[in-house]
Amino acid sequence: MKVFQPASPDLICAWRWTERGLYLLDQRLLPWREKYILCRTWQEVRKAIREMVVRGAPAIGITAAIGLVLGAERLRARTRKAFLAALKRVARGLARARPTAVNLFWALERMVKRAENETDAGPGELIEILRAEALTIWEEDLSACRRMGRFGAELLPEEGAVLTHCNAGALATGGYGTALGVIRAAVEAGKRLSVLADETRPYLQGARLTAWEMKKVGIPVAVIPDAAAGFLMARGRVQAVIVGADRIAANGDVANKIGTYSLAVLARENRIPFYVAAPSSTFDLRCPSGEAIPIEERSPEEVHFCGSLRVTPFGVSAANPAFDVTPAELITAIITEEGVIRPPYSRNIPAVLSGEAQTT
Ligand code: MRU
Repeated sequence: MKVFQPASPDLICAWRWTERGLYLLDQRLLPWREKYILCRTWQEVRKAIREMVVRGAPAIGITAAIGLVLGAERLRARTRKAFLAALKRVARGLARARPTAVNLFWALERMVKRAENETDAGPGELIEILRAEALTIWEEDLSACRRMGRFGAELLPEEGAVLTHCNAGALATGGYGTALGVIRAAVEAGKRLSVLADETRPYLQGARLTAWEMKKVGIPVAVIPDAAAGFLMARGRVQAVIVGADRIAANGDVANKIGTYSLAVLARENRIPFYVAAPSSTFDLRCPSGEAIPIEERSPEEVHFCGSLRVTPFGVSAANPAFDVTPAELITAIITEEGVIRPPYSRNIPAVLSGEAQTT
């Protein structure tokens, strides 16, 4: 059976893509069960993204690109023109999966453009081209994480505890991770670091996924209640904070998992460096500031329940914004695969991403 995957995949991998379809590691079941579910159609892929079988901005982008290939494989179009029109309809459908992570829209736009630019290719060839492009998006993300790791490792202290929020690891990317990739690279370089993982209510990505990943790669990890972060910082038990991002605006404002903003304020108050690690595909220079970033509101049920246990009285309401926006002035540096970006972000983001600026 044909398997599509990068030449040197990470040891933790959110997918298995074969000619049968896309097998997704069901992240809702971690850390208790490692079970893959099979998606054969683009609609199944959209449902899996929406229901957080797979999550994390770069992973959502890669999954959507593969979902578009699954959609393309089932199109009945005979001509190139009809194929492209139908492909765009599938892309529009996949784009409705979740609103905040820009990697989703970035990946779909890149895939559609790739097909449009192949002016001589018919439907059969276009499917092959799209399959190769989705694999390239996956491979590029994995190598971006490894490069980010090398740049970011230098910023972390020689020893101590690094606090992270949500899960910005291999499960959330093409492999290796953004924020967790930086920690992995620093440990691989000999730094003596441990991880403090915010549990990240309500979905518990920190308690379930970050702790699971760190255990797999052998990095000491302690899960903490979200509310413990400020106390631990004030007691000198946190040497740096590093998080991922779902979308970064042109002025450096960062949308990431709800609770990130509070951590950044606490880090500033306690004079602790606050780093964001994200690939260039997470930047949205069309958003001038964080105010323009759409923030997903998820079901109140996720707040009413912790696992299968109802924790609120019946008859009360709950709010569940899935992300918040951290203002650029609270961010010490943004680590990308092109280098480390420091303030002023409005000037330095385009300069570093275009490769024009020297970075350290
Ligand atoms: O709701 P999620 O689990 O998709 O949110 C994920 C995050 O907020 C991550 O920190 C972000 O996507 C970066 S992943 C490298």
